[in-house]
Amino acid sequence: MRKIYIFDTTLRDGEQSPGVNLNTKEKVEIALQLEKLGVDRIEAGFPAASPGDLAAVNAVATAIKNATIIGLSRSREQDIDAVREALKGAQDPCIHLFLATSPIHRKHKLRMEKEQVLETAERAIRYAKKYFDKVEFSPEDAGRTELDFLCEVTDMAIRAGATVVNIPDTVGYLNPQEFGNIFKTLKQNVPNIETIQLSAHCHDDLGMATANALSAILNGADQVEGTINGIGERAGNTAIEEIALALATRADYFGATTTLNLKEIAKTSRLVSKLTGMVVPGNKAIVGANAFAHESGIHQDGMLKEKTTYEIISPDTIGLRESSLVLGKHSGRHAFREKLIDMGYELDEEAVNVAFAKFKNLADRKKNVTDEDIRAFLEEKLVDTPEVFTLETIQVSYGNQSTPSASVIIRQADGSVSEGTAEGNGSVDAIYNAIDKVTAEAVELEDYSIKSVSQGKDALGEVHVVLNQNEVSAQGRGLSTDILEASARAYIDALNRLIEKRKSPGRRDKMSLI
Ligand code: KIV
Ligand code: ZN
Repeated sequence: MRKIYIFDTTLRDGEQSPGVNLNTKEKVEIALQLEKLGVDRIEAGFPAASPGDLAAVNAVATAIKNATIIGLSRSREQDIDAVREALKGAQDPCIHLFLATSPIHRKHKLRMEKEQVLETAERAIRYAKKYFDKVEFSPEDAGRTELDFLCEVTDMAIRAGATVVNIPDTVGYLNPQEFGNIFKTLKQNVPNIETIQLSAHCHDDLGMATANALSAILNGADQVEGTINGIGERAGNTAIEEIALALATRADYFGATTTLNLKEIAKTSRLVSKLTGMVVPGNKAIVGANAFAHESGIHQDGMLKEKTTYEIISPDTIGLRESSLVLGKHSGRHAFREKLIDMGYELDEEAVNVAFAKFKNLADRKKNVTDEDIRAFLEEKLVDTPEVFTLETIQVSYGNQSTPSASVIIRQADGSVSEGTAEGNGSVDAIYNAIDKVTAEAVELEDYSIKSVSQGKDALGEVHVVLNQNEVSAQGRGLSTDILEASARAYIDALNRLIEKRKSPGRRDKMSLI
């Protein structure tokens, strides 16, 4: 079987998703999980974008031992120097240079002729090569670049020392046949093409990112770039979990494989969704909540008789283990511990005690505590933010004929406790106005979303908010069986993150790739 290298860009292209802004701790947390998943390469960010981005890439480079760490760079010396600085501690560093090559980009964005593009890219690759053994070059918007020019660019990149040439369909314009043909053409026409790796980087604007990447594999690509859950610029990137499962399920057809630990997929997907605040649609392939749900009677009947009638992938393959043990308020510590083991968690004694206390608290409010509930509260606080504000109590008054009002009591880091009361257009608005009175932080609510963690009227609700203060955004999450309490917790979590962010070196809010 041919090995396909997986280049994960969740922390770079994925982080370019609108509304997503990961802090350094969150990036490291995701990178550690990607390492467990077994991705070969991790693109940790764009160091030249800001000192904060550089610091985040550096933190990932220091934490990860079993994957190549990559920093993105425009084709200019200052950017390359920023990547050198960021990757100082990396065990296996690589630089990813890019320069646009398509006629549209050459004319309107770069204002360069073909010759200038070739010269600029060659200079950058040769400069980078002085400091890095591994250099990847991407002709940005390769998908709309003339094929003969793309061959010329690839030839130049090989001669200048690139070790990987990545072909991005930057705007998700191509169909599988056209994208596959690029790889075929490069393989047939570029001298010494066998000395480098060819890589595919697809965007999903027309819903073809995964199909295009698979077509590239069939036509000789050695590496696929993508993100977990397919997040990324605009409609997103190729979803890594889709590539991995397509190759694993249809090995007979593709004759290629990844070395990913597939059992880590569900966990990685949940972590990325939680930390980015990007909810995975229910019908999303592989990791959506309905991906293994069978609704119609005919399908259920078939499943009961023989699973393979309607199931091509077992949920167990991606680490979704549903145990039959249902827990409730009468369940003891022993049953709870058994459940954790069954679900694949390895917690020490102290962590089990904390988790058990949370479970008992939840079981008082909810009849059956499901696996999703347990996962939600176990994975609620993977990344700790210092709590400047903590919610002590919340009281809401609502009637459809009266103005909603809310009172909150909040403890501050110095131990002092303050109360705030306010009215609002709705209950959540009243709560947020009351919190604003206590904290005196001038913030704008940029985004608010709510989802149910499990089924039933008493399900846990998870609220996600994005707050903005002076062009700096921070997200927050809150979990509770009561959506108003979850809303308050999410808002306070975001406030604490904003305050933490003010203290850390400036991170740009969005990358400008020009
Ligand atoms: O989509 C794209 O062209 C990119 C490049 C930076 C590789 O993300
Ligand atoms: Zn991209």
